[in-house]
Amino acid sequence: MSPARVAAMASDSSAVPDPLTVGRYTASSVMVSAADLKARVQALGEEITADYAGREPLLVGVLKGAFMFMSDLARSIDLPVEFDFMAVSSYGHSTRSSGVVRIVKDLDLDLAGRDVILVEDIIDSGLTLNYLRRNLLARNPASLEVCALLVRENHKVDESILRYEGYRVPSDFLVGYGLDVDEKFRNLPDIRIVDVAPEESAADPTVARSPA
Ligand code: IMP
Ligand code: MG
Repeated sequence: MSPARVAAMASDSSAVPDPLTVGRYTASSVMVSAADLKARVQALGEEITADYAGREPLLVGVLKGAFMFMSDLARSIDLPVEFDFMAVSSYGHSTRSSGVVRIVKDLDLDLAGRDVILVEDIIDSGLTLNYLRRNLLARNPASLEVCALLVRENHKVDESILRYEGYRVPSDFLVGYGLDVDEKFRNLPDIRIVDVAPEESAADPTVARSPA
């Protein structure tokens, strides 16, 4: 299925900005509404159901960002599926990539002979995906496909490995529906652009005056 474009997303009138602020972070413009997400994830599930008929795919979710997408995706797949999760660190507590991918939690299940679908929240540079694909292929699955909810327009991975994808998105930092900034906003039902206020400097007189 070809991914929907961002330009086509604003069609839903429920996508009215309703800014939420937590600390320095404000989740403002809605990029994908909850209603659009529901329909898109359902369509991806139906496509997987058709493609994997007669098989029992193993969904491998990349924590934490993919947890909400994987939960909804699994419920829209009308086949026996199994789950496993990995956690990797590619970003620290900010919106900047560390450029380093490290397995923080490995899988519990054996992938040998399994039809594995790697479920990701967002493919940004593609660094994490490239690393994970190499790592999972070395475990001899029968097949390995990728299902990503969001893919950056300027990603650096081979298009042919992006089997299932929800939306192509520009470079804005996004939160909601599992995606976070500094662990915040994962529980938003929609996907929003986050604005980050500059850090208050220690020399700021308003900080110096505040009570201890
Ligand atoms: P990549 O290795 O550059 O492709 O980064 C992929 C990972 O970075 C994703 O799985 C997310 O965890 C995180 N990430 C990238 N862009 C965003 C964003 O806009 N919001 C939240 N997390 C992001
Ligand atoms: Mg992720």
